Amino acid sequence: MYKLCVNPRVHKGHINPEIQGHFSEHLGRGIYEGLFVREGDNIDNINGMRQDVVKALKELKVPVLRWPGGCFADEYHWKDGIGPKENRKKMINTHWGGVVEDNSFGTHEFMELCDQLGCKNYVNGNVGSGTVQEMQEWVEYMTFDGVSPMADLREKNGHKSPWKVDYFGVGNENWGCGGNMPPEYYAGLYRRYQTYVRDYKQGEHLFKVACGANVDDYNWTEGVMGTAFAQAPWMHGFMDGLSLHYYTHPGGWEHKGSALEFDDKMWYQTLSKTLYMEELITRHQAIMDKYDKEHKVGIIVDEWGTWYDCEPGTNPGFLYQQNTIRDALVAGINLNIFNKHCDRVKMANIAQMINVLQAVILTDGERMIKTPTYHVFNMYKYHQDAELLDSYVETKKIGLVDEYMVPNLTESVSLGTDGKIHATITNLSCEENYDINISVADTDLKSVTGEIVGGEIHLHNTFDEPENVVVRKFDEVKLLEKGEATLSIPASSVIHLAFEI
Ligand code: AHR
Repeated sequence: MYKLCVNPRVHKGHINPEIQGHFSEHLGRGIYEGLFVREGDNIDNINGMRQDVVKALKELKVPVLRWPGGCFADEYHWKDGIGPKENRKKMINTHWGGVVEDNSFGTHEFMELCDQLGCKNYVNGNVGSGTVQEMQEWVEYMTFDGVSPMADLREKNGHKSPWKVDYFGVGNENWGCGGNMPPEYYAGLYRRYQTYVRDYKQGEHLFKVACGANVDDYNWTEGVMGTAFAQAPWMHGFMDGLSLHYYTHPGGWEHKGSALEFDDKMWYQTLSKTLYMEELITRHQAIMDKYDKEHKVGIIVDEWGTWYDCEPGTNPGFLYQQNTIRDALVAGINLNIFNKHCDRVKMANIAQMINVLQAVILTDGERMIKTPTYHVFNMYKYHQDAELLDSYVETKKIGLVDEYMVPNLTESVSLGTDGKIHATITNLSCEENYDINISVADTDLKSVTGEIVGGEIHLHNTFDEPENVVVRKFDEVKLLEKGEATLSIPASSVIHLAFEI
């Protein structure tokens, strides 16, 4: 019997809904086909937005969407994507598949999509190949309410009132595809560019995200924090957030491995690599703490997820991959880690929302399926805006190879806005069920409901069998006396329990 102890008196932080955020880039079939219907295509849409997809995403309560990249962001020139469609520039998407980008999805369309989803927006600006003026004008175009060339242009393009921009990224991966810069050089540019990312409306602050590290590049974090903070520690280095990118490549960057064909060894290897997120957050945070003692700057994990070899027969530049119970576990583990670090992790964006990498939705023409990852997000949504509670679970190490041993269980527990205690637990074993005793100190547990995503590790949804993996009811939890409950968590599964107290 494994003990999961919860102390509801100790609140460890607020769980920003944005921790369950999404990312969609001009890449493959993510935006075009996935979210947006081009003129002439016969798929049910409102103002171009696919309604089956919008409906499914609304159920998840998507809190925020990042756009337009990714690597695409640092070669995106926003003026190419406004005005009459027939006049918009056509270009080659050099990063992703060499296809023609006709810019029919631009700023207005992105804001319309966020409106329909009811989510916040996160716009990523171009530092790599864009000018300061271009970035300044984009922010003015989107947010300025008054007489100005950009506000006039916005009105001419059919949107008189300004939008509110919630988050603004000053460059993406500027250590790599965003300009191959050293950290101090980027930090200098960051200071300059962000100066012109203005708050045009009194009382509305644009949350600025500086480009953070790739995986374990601690030198980058040190360089950016050091340089940015040196000039203005009282303004916390002019930033509200610092990003972090970490993907789970099961077999490494060169031979990532198949999404569908993997053995037990690869299962544990994948989960072990996912758990590395914990160390990355802890160590980057320790560097940030040296400069930003008051935790003013959030960690923004704006790209995370599994990255496999793309599906055979698809364009290698489109990064289309299937999604199994293994991905459900990756999602559950990561979201538990982000919850546990909610004092610093203020946003995280899964890469990517639709048809790209660890997607929550896959489409094929008119057809659409929800992936196992979708169903995990659907169970975790109760943590949005909740208070993280102090909790701890006993574990043992499991696995097949020393290097990739993992704990058998992970968890996070919160007090939701509905007044219930929500626990999400992952079982990382591909073969063993575990008995768990949950103990909530000094609390009367009146009732419990449960739900589960799990099954054989290769299980996945297809367009012909879209419901192989769904959220199922889990009613095998027994309530005992004095705030205790017991259950047996099945192998390779993620569960969500809601306790009425
Ligand atoms: O998500 C795919 C790519 O991964 C993004 O464009 C880039 O930022 C990262 O390297």
